[in-house]
Amino acid sequence: MNYITDITQTIGGTKLLRLDKLKEAWGYDGHIYAKLEHMSPGFSKKDRIALGMIEEAEKRGALKPGMAVIEATSGNTGIGLAIVCAAKGYRFICVMSKGNSQERVKMIEALGGEIRLIDQEPGAKKGLVSGADLALVMEAAKAAVEETGGFYVEQFENPDNSLAQEKMGEEIWEQSGGTITAFADFVGTGGTFAGVSKSLKSHNPDIKCYVVEPEGSAVYSGKEPTGTGHRIQGGGYGVEQSLVKKDFIDGTVTVSDDEAVKAVGDLARYAGVFAGFSSGANVRAAAKLLDGPEKGGNIAVAINDCGLKYMSTGLFE
Ligand SMILES: Cc1ncc(COP(=O)(O)O)c(C=O)c1O
Repeated sequence: MNYITDITQTIGGTKLLRLDKLKEAWGYDGHIYAKLEHMSPGFSKKDRIALGMIEEAEKRGALKPGMAVIEATSGNTGIGLAIVCAAKGYRFICVMSKGNSQERVKMIEALGGEIRLIDQEPGAKKGLVSGADLALVMEAAKAAVEETGGFYVEQFENPDNSLAQEKMGEEIWEQSGGTITAFADFVGTGGTFAGVSKSLKSHNPDIKCYVVEPEGSAVYSGKEPTGTGHRIQGGGYGVEQSLVKKDFIDGTVTVSDDEAVKAVGDLARYAGVFAGFSSGANVRAAAKLLDGPEKGGNIAVAINDCGLKYMSTGLFE
């Protein structure tokens, strides 16, 4: 017999793809290794943290049977939590900004999650979620915790977020045969950057870890956010994140919306990898590094989520 009894057993253990076809098309010097996180049950890397944060809370006794699980999320963590809560039998309340794409809302609802949609700041554009929008979402999440006495996941502050992503780093190290020389990552909560960097540097402290940022929202590059917003959903909030340890940052790379969008198209066309905005940003950033300070290196990136989540955003037009 070869079957599993719980969907959460499919989380983690994704393949690592060397992007040889993209290298032929783009002509950078070195290799990009893409961790195919879009092939997880919720089609994103955030399934890992959903499972990790829930199971660590269960172990600590902070989450008990019958309690609600509450989170403020732009969607992918919500999808991951909806899957984990469905599998484990918890009520799940997901608070999110109206600025995020509709596909994620529908998917969470289909998985049995309850959605609370929060208005953006007056004058904000749909699809462009700012730090101020995010603050409004957090406030509403806290209100839901008070109302239900539920467990507030708090991915932005929760160390179990980066702890779960350390496993991704371990997998990358092992799958690459210990040949990775750098890692580049578009930061949202910073859980992936923190976890994967910690893991890779524990194996080889010379591995260089780069924060990837949108143009106009490049705080780690020491720039004031312009406030014009960007299209790269899932991060680039224009504020430094508590999970990100400054000592792990060896450098930063900025990517424009157009560069990220073009990279998403090329990833699909040349590599058959159907990904979202932030995966394009990661891959474009890695190529920039291979054309620059990491020439000839082996750079790991995550394919954060699946392109199907962005059909309504114009990403593929
Ligand atoms: C599509 C996408 N890309 C990137 C990120 C950022 O990942 P992290 O929160 O680990 O920094 C997220 C987080 O929600 C995401 O959903």
